[in-house]
Amino acid sequence: MAQESNELMDKLAALCKRRGFIFQSSEIYGGIGGFWDYGPLGVELKRNLKDAWWHDVVRRRDDVVGLDCSIIMNPKVWEASGHLGGFSDPMVTCKDCKKHMRADHLGLCVIHQCEKIPDEEFAAQLDALGPAAVKWGGPEGFMVANGASVEEIQAGLRRRLGSKRAKVVLRGQAMFAQDGDRTCFLEQGRPADWSRLNTPDARCPHCGGELTEPRQFNLMFKTFVGAMEDSSSVAYLRPETAQGIFANYRNVLDTTRLRMPFGIAQIGKSFRNEINPRNYTFRSREFEQMEIEFFCHPNEADKWYEYWRDARYQWYVGLGLKSSKLRLRNHEKDELAHYARACADIEYEFPFGISELEGVANRTDYDLTRHQKFSGKDMAYFDDQTRQRYIPFVIEPSGGVDRGVLALLCEAYAEDQAPDENGQMQTRTLMRFHPRLAPVKVAVFPLVKKEGMPEIAEKIYRDCQAAGLASFYDEKGAVGRRYRRQDEAGTPFCVTVDGQTLADQTVTVRDRDSLAQDRIPADKVLAYVQQRLR
Ligand code: GAP
Repeated sequence: MAQESNELMDKLAALCKRRGFIFQSSEIYGGIGGFWDYGPLGVELKRNLKDAWWHDVVRRRDDVVGLDCSIIMNPKVWEASGHLGGFSDPMVTCKDCKKHMRADHLGLCVIHQCEKIPDEEFAAQLDALGPAAVKWGGPEGFMVANGASVEEIQAGLRRRLGSKRAKVVLRGQAMFAQDGDRTCFLEQGRPADWSRLNTPDARCPHCGGELTEPRQFNLMFKTFVGAMEDSSSVAYLRPETAQGIFANYRNVLDTTRLRMPFGIAQIGKSFRNEINPRNYTFRSREFEQMEIEFFCHPNEADKWYEYWRDARYQWYVGLGLKSSKLRLRNHEKDELAHYARACADIEYEFPFGISELEGVANRTDYDLTRHQKFSGKDMAYFDDQTRQRYIPFVIEPSGGVDRGVLALLCEAYAEDQAPDENGQMQTRTLMRFHPRLAPVKVAVFPLVKKEGMPEIAEKIYRDCQAAGLASFYDEKGAVGRRYRRQDEAGTPFCVTVDGQTLADQTVTVRDRDSLAQDRIPADKVLAYVQQRLR
């Protein structure tokens, strides 16, 4: 099964390269891990996905507006959002082969941490964080809920391990659980797997070498703004588009006539220095997000959360992703980020496993409250009907464009048996894209390059192009081969001008999926294709 899945991913990646969907970034120099380029077909597919999203969540609605923010923002934004202190993954390095790996991906990493805070304040603040909340998370281990003090965590640890000597050790910003010579890293949000604790026999999966202890690795890319490269000019490439929306929430409110509830939507690049980019474009270091922050009254947040969660799931079904491969997974309370009241993942069954396409979260008033605190600007909303002032809650549907494209590619890839021009059955590779998303909607061919056929075909092609349909004209090679090329590109309709066209002004329109050929008047091609695309 795993081998079949790998084969499928290999075939898909080969097709994407061969036909110009996706290339490795800077391939001529050997590439660079976690970065990808979209070729002529890929860029159209990606644009169609983004256009479909923008059309459906912004243009077709009265209560959502768009925004396009800068990628680099004042670093205070990332202090307020918590990314500077806490946006990190636990990393281990192999002492032999020097490979870096995510400790949690190796099953070495565990539990909790309170919200991450700077080194010097860490221990003191951790202690001051409030009521005890150590929770047992079933047989795998335990979770330490946000707000537990070091002593409380340690007490829980001892109970869980049945060991009086177990202790919590603080090193810089990192927190470890230690029991004799067993050490594990304490990380937010995942139940512990004590059977795979970082014991001395935990080894590098690549070469069997010894691993370092886990250490925190901040995922934000750093850069400098201006001529000086010092600490005063440090800035970051945004790791999510969401914060640009929060930072502009007041601007949008003050410049539009929007009333609560309303949403702000943005599509844009985000950057994360992922330790192990993997699964083709699935986990990249540069990627695009399409995010909505939907602001509402706190009493209505549950209702809006359910609305967006279900609407977003249905949106993917509408794009042609089979519901048998899509899954809506509600997070357990234990899994929630400390600021979230509810969260669900929309997941897709990729050949490499079931993985997240989009998350929908009720982020409460966390972000606006933090920005109010850090910026000193009032983020409250005044409802002049009810005379109430409040900081709105936020429902956030946050999807990855590249993951959406990858799911569309996986879903579309198919092989079937079809007759070639000699009537012999051959294996055919095709991309069954939903016509709305197909990079090319119609291809037009003259059967041969003579007898006036090219002129008629070119006119049909130009008419389709002028009407805004992504169209393609091809007169080279055997017509069967031209069909196959379009099947691999996922073009839903191929129009052929042939001998009969000269006699009765009709052409054939071939359907990519069924291979059925309709004969229709040449001057009705545009209307026919437009009708079928609807
Ligand atoms: N504002 C919330 C947020 O950014 P997230 O779950 O970290 O939440 C949202 O990211 C979406 O962005 C994910 O569901 C995924 O589709 C996409 N995404 C996140 N990291 C990614 C990566 N390294 N490569 C590709 N897409 C990624």
